[in-house]
Amino acid sequence: MNHIPIKEIPFDPGHPITGHLKEFQADKFTMQMNMLKKMGSIYKFNVGRHEIIYLAEPTYIRHMLQTNYKNYVKNFFYDELKVILGKGLVTSEGEYWRKHRKMIQPAFHHKQIRQFQEIMVDSTKKLILQWEKQALEKTPVNIEYDMRDLTLEIVVKCLFSQDTNIFSKDASDAVNIVLEWSKKRMESFVKMPKWIPAKSNREFHEAFSFLQSVIKNIIQNRRKMNSRPDDLLTSLIELTDEESNVGMDDQQLFDEILTLFIAGHETTAHTMVWTWYLLSLHPQVREKLQNELDSVFTGNEFSSDMIPQLQYCKMVIQESMRYIPSVWGIGREALEDDTIDGFAISKGATVGVSIFQMHHHPDYWENPEGFDPERFHPDVVNNLNKWVYMPFGAGPRMCIGNAFAMMESQIILSIISKQFQLNLRREIPVEFESGITLRPKNEMLMDVIKR
Ligand code: HEM
Repeated sequence: MNHIPIKEIPFDPGHPITGHLKEFQADKFTMQMNMLKKMGSIYKFNVGRHEIIYLAEPTYIRHMLQTNYKNYVKNFFYDELKVILGKGLVTSEGEYWRKHRKMIQPAFHHKQIRQFQEIMVDSTKKLILQWEKQALEKTPVNIEYDMRDLTLEIVVKCLFSQDTNIFSKDASDAVNIVLEWSKKRMESFVKMPKWIPAKSNREFHEAFSFLQSVIKNIIQNRRKMNSRPDDLLTSLIELTDEESNVGMDDQQLFDEILTLFIAGHETTAHTMVWTWYLLSLHPQVREKLQNELDSVFTGNEFSSDMIPQLQYCKMVIQESMRYIPSVWGIGREALEDDTIDGFAISKGATVGVSIFQMHHHPDYWENPEGFDPERFHPDVVNNLNKWVYMPFGAGPRMCIGNAFAMMESQIILSIISKQFQLNLRREIPVEFESGITLRPKNEMLMDVIKR
């Protein structure tokens, strides 16, 4: 029998007790780029007691995310999310996930999501009214706070349309409490048991049961309606499994709704935060964007048929997602032993892809540290390798909301940039904080200047 020789994965254990924990927490991207240089396209390192394998070669990544994706399930990092998202799309696996993905996918098709453009436009205009005042008073905006509020409002309206008055400000606050709680737990290596009646645990339990009752109430009322509004919730309620012809029960709907809230607002909010930041650092790109907006967007009213013409606007967002991807990495666990190009992956191994690293990999990008939207010009964009550029992931578990997020980002960027120029207040240092999403560590303040 022929045996394929097993190759050794280059390994850097780091400190005997803490491994690379310190560098991983302080500046994981510098650490990753150094390891890439030292060890190449597949390498292994320790973070505390966890051994992590990183793939940094497109065919290896394709193997994990597509060819043999069934062998690679979401890793321990997602356990905390399961507490709140149950068996929603992000946290479920196997046949259950496959059935739900197939059922929900049509609700996110291009044609289907076009109906949400008006909500996106109206919510952005509401923020503009608030900023007009701040521009006059010369008070800076907290960009992260405002982008999170805006994207949460958009996702709530797309889900619930006419029920948004039932889904009150208290419910939005509860989403944020639940999200903050699970984020803290996902990001800390030592976790306080959930049953300890500490303030944060109490607040979480209160917020979570409040959310459950609000959302389940909305679901039950909606089920009773004869004529339902045209929104995401109606789509979710009316979807049925092709084989059994059965729809989702209230708990399944709750899990999917919370999943869409959590997966669909911070990710887009931080994409926008980093886009505003990068535009503020690159005035020549911002000027080109403003020129495009002035030529396409001639009146005062934004209309959705302008979107296909806003080509540079899309290129700016694509490059911003390359340069600072709001979801910086993908983590999996091997269900069974496997080999990737002769390298042994043992059952139970943690295997990951740093999207950030691939987006800055010197073998695949010319001048990777330069911010240049021209890389995404329609004439060259088809040459991009989808296993190198993957802000929305890749393979069967790729983001279901990618078209929704692109449309939303283009609408927010174009409507705001037509009216305002955002300038970063540089006295506060900008550093990365990388948890579920890659966000600024410190408050980011920006002056909004009326154009
Ligand atoms: C710029 C914004 C966004 C970014 C960067 C982003 C990124 C990602 C990435 C990288 C994944 C794959 C994770 C993995 O394979 O482990 C993912 C999955 C997912 N995203 Fe997004 N996302 C964004 C917006 C949205 C929006 C707007 C929604 C919904 C309204 C959404 C819903 C989901 C869901 C449900 C999944 C799980 C899909 C599955 O496993 O079948 N995302 N997203």
